[in-house]
Amino acid sequence: MLLARRFLILTLFLAALVAAPLAAYAQAPRAASRVDLDALLRRMTLEEKLGQLTQYSWQFATGPTREDPAAAPEAQHHLIRTGMVGSYLNAFGAAYTRELQRIAVEESRLKIPLLFGMDVIHGYRTIFPTPLAEACSWNPEAAALSARIAAAEASAVGLHWTFAPMLDIARDARWGRIVEGAGEDTYLGMVLGAARVRGFQGDDLRAPESLLACAKHFAAYGVAEGGRDYNTVDISERTLRSVYLPPFKAAVQAGVGTFMSSFNEIAGIPSTGNPFLLTTVLRDEWKFDGFVVSDWNSIGEMVNHRSAADRTEAGVQALTAGTDMDMMSAIYPDELVQAARAGKVPVAVIDRAVRRVLEVKERLGLFEDPYRGADPARERAAILAPAHRAAARDVARQSIVLLRNEGGLLPLDKNVRRIAVIGPLADNPGAMLGPWAGQGRPEDVTTLLSALRAYLPSTAEITYVQGAGISDQRREGFEAAVAAARAADVVLLAVGEAAEMSGEAASRTDLGLPGVQQALAEAVLAAGKPTVVILSNGRPLAIPWLAQNAPALLETWFLGTEAGYAITDVLFGDYNPSGRLTVSFPNASAQTPLYYNHKATGRPGQDAQPYTSRYLDAPTRPLFPFGHGLSYTTFAYDNLRLSPVQVGAASDTLEVQVDVRNTGARAGTETVQLYVTDLAASVTPPVLELKGFHRLTLAPGAGRTVTFRMPLALLAVYNPAMEHVVEPGYVEILVGRSSADLPLKGAVEITGRPHRVSDEARYTRSMDR
Ligand code: NOJ
Repeated sequence: MLLARRFLILTLFLAALVAAPLAAYAQAPRAASRVDLDALLRRMTLEEKLGQLTQYSWQFATGPTREDPAAAPEAQHHLIRTGMVGSYLNAFGAAYTRELQRIAVEESRLKIPLLFGMDVIHGYRTIFPTPLAEACSWNPEAAALSARIAAAEASAVGLHWTFAPMLDIARDARWGRIVEGAGEDTYLGMVLGAARVRGFQGDDLRAPESLLACAKHFAAYGVAEGGRDYNTVDISERTLRSVYLPPFKAAVQAGVGTFMSSFNEIAGIPSTGNPFLLTTVLRDEWKFDGFVVSDWNSIGEMVNHRSAADRTEAGVQALTAGTDMDMMSAIYPDELVQAARAGKVPVAVIDRAVRRVLEVKERLGLFEDPYRGADPARERAAILAPAHRAAARDVARQSIVLLRNEGGLLPLDKNVRRIAVIGPLADNPGAMLGPWAGQGRPEDVTTLLSALRAYLPSTAEITYVQGAGISDQRREGFEAAVAAARAADVVLLAVGEAAEMSGEAASRTDLGLPGVQQALAEAVLAAGKPTVVILSNGRPLAIPWLAQNAPALLETWFLGTEAGYAITDVLFGDYNPSGRLTVSFPNASAQTPLYYNHKATGRPGQDAQPYTSRYLDAPTRPLFPFGHGLSYTTFAYDNLRLSPVQVGAASDTLEVQVDVRNTGARAGTETVQLYVTDLAASVTPPVLELKGFHRLTLAPGAGRTVTFRMPLALLAVYNPAMEHVVEPGYVEILVGRSSADLPLKGAVEITGRPHRVSDEARYTRSMDR
């Protein structure tokens, strides 16, 4: 009871945190600095300045002894004492970070506090669903809540900064890092990215439980050729600005404190040394006032890109372009000292970067309290706190997507007698954590099997057979698996990917089930028993056979610490599934990149129509479309109202109303999706674009009117002159359940002259009446 109340209070707090700032578009004004940073800057030597711009990984500094500060190499302590390091990544533990900080603020000449960062991507110790999974909740409050809890745990161990959220729009399922973002859609990426920034940073960055966020990877990292990580990117400025940059701009508007430059080049210029991205767009246009950190050795890697002849040139290019902090190249504290002395980089450029780093440290309150939230007692209370686990379970079940449910097989009867649990993901706690799982530990995780054992009455007979590994070729377990299936009333088959098959440097060309899992599924399903296939994976999979043959198919991604309970809640109907895909699933691996908001082409693809933009051997449509997700109830859509139907290009908002009714027998949550398409424009528009969504929960038989207020600026395009304008003409408005199921359609006419908009990063506000 107490737990539930605490969770409710946390949720209400978060609801306020999310709702309020979404309405306020402008960046909040910064409080004046409480420290005289100019005076501090004047006292710094060149070496101290470049040291301040340097970040090292503690992991590499200390190796296996990192739990013991006394054993940490004296060399690192010496760097801290001499002011030759501004930040560490991967140093954590309250007692431990306090000791390092003590050296910085007591034993260094200028007593500048260190900044401790780490990849806290979907939880610190209490692990939430991977960001792609969580995005399928289409719930900004859930995204902010998980970020807030991650911040509470991470800040207690002395961390100040997370390298999240990843805001890369990802449309190529081969790219393993698709798991770290919100999926293929720009609008969703903006809304969820901004929510995560607010969750990490809270209202007050100085608060001990707030974590500085980092918008990464700037930019277009997800457009890597062939889906191969770190690979070349070459896209137009129009596509860059229309598709890939808006989530980053939304993050700036949400007040994000730092940016990370990406590993890739764009059209010949590596992002880390790209003045157009880092200065023209980020500083001049967006007025970003935090600092930019490179990605891991991405300054050094400019030599591999061959855009710099040597490390010195790479360092000069990076700092001049606007990369303020050097993560792990050690070029700034080394080569740049000589380069500055030789006049190759102006001191003013160094000072600009140092000042940005000091300002962020000041905004975090580190000059006043360098130890901030790092407190062993707080650490003990925060890590895996029951309220955190309860929230992780709730967010996890919201992330599950019911892809198929033939004959209403799900939900299952709780009194099921014989249940066979089969597959390499049924009792695999490590896999449930997914990639980038912070300090999450397998021993904290509830798997499907352990949750079932806790959930089902003792009368249930649970038989578990692994059947096969995730990626090996052995089939010895098939026989036992099939025997268990035959003897069961219900079969749960858990298949998918290992955690390390997605994430960084984890690109795949084959998007089918790895190893012999497809064959295992065919053998188990041949037993003819009511079978629920439960997928755990980091990317959309090409699984056409399962989509046709599995009676029920549940996409559970990697759900984190509470995975098993969340899946069980959905299987037995304690939670009515409400997740919707934020990525399109392909029919075949080679169908990727695949996304719903593609262009029309001169010969729109039509299956079986020769000389259209199609494949001879695979459908053009996705296997499961963006926005798809079933419920145990049904919803009817009716009565689209647009107001006004004729609107001036310079006008502010368009109102869209629809009536939604729960027509089934259970309460359920529907995500009402609003799409637009421009019928003709000065530059070719996507065939469909999401511009608003609204989640609402309805009792059986209940109905409600949903009202969207869409700022017209959301319809702006980059015209041939690259002006960002709302153009006159007809725009279709479509509302429904998914990008492929839009029962309501209307059109508005935009009149007047093309109208320039300065601020594209606006959100559709919705409310129900
Ligand atoms: C490389 C990854 O690309 C980036 O996302 C991460 O934050 C850094 N390493 C630090 O671990």
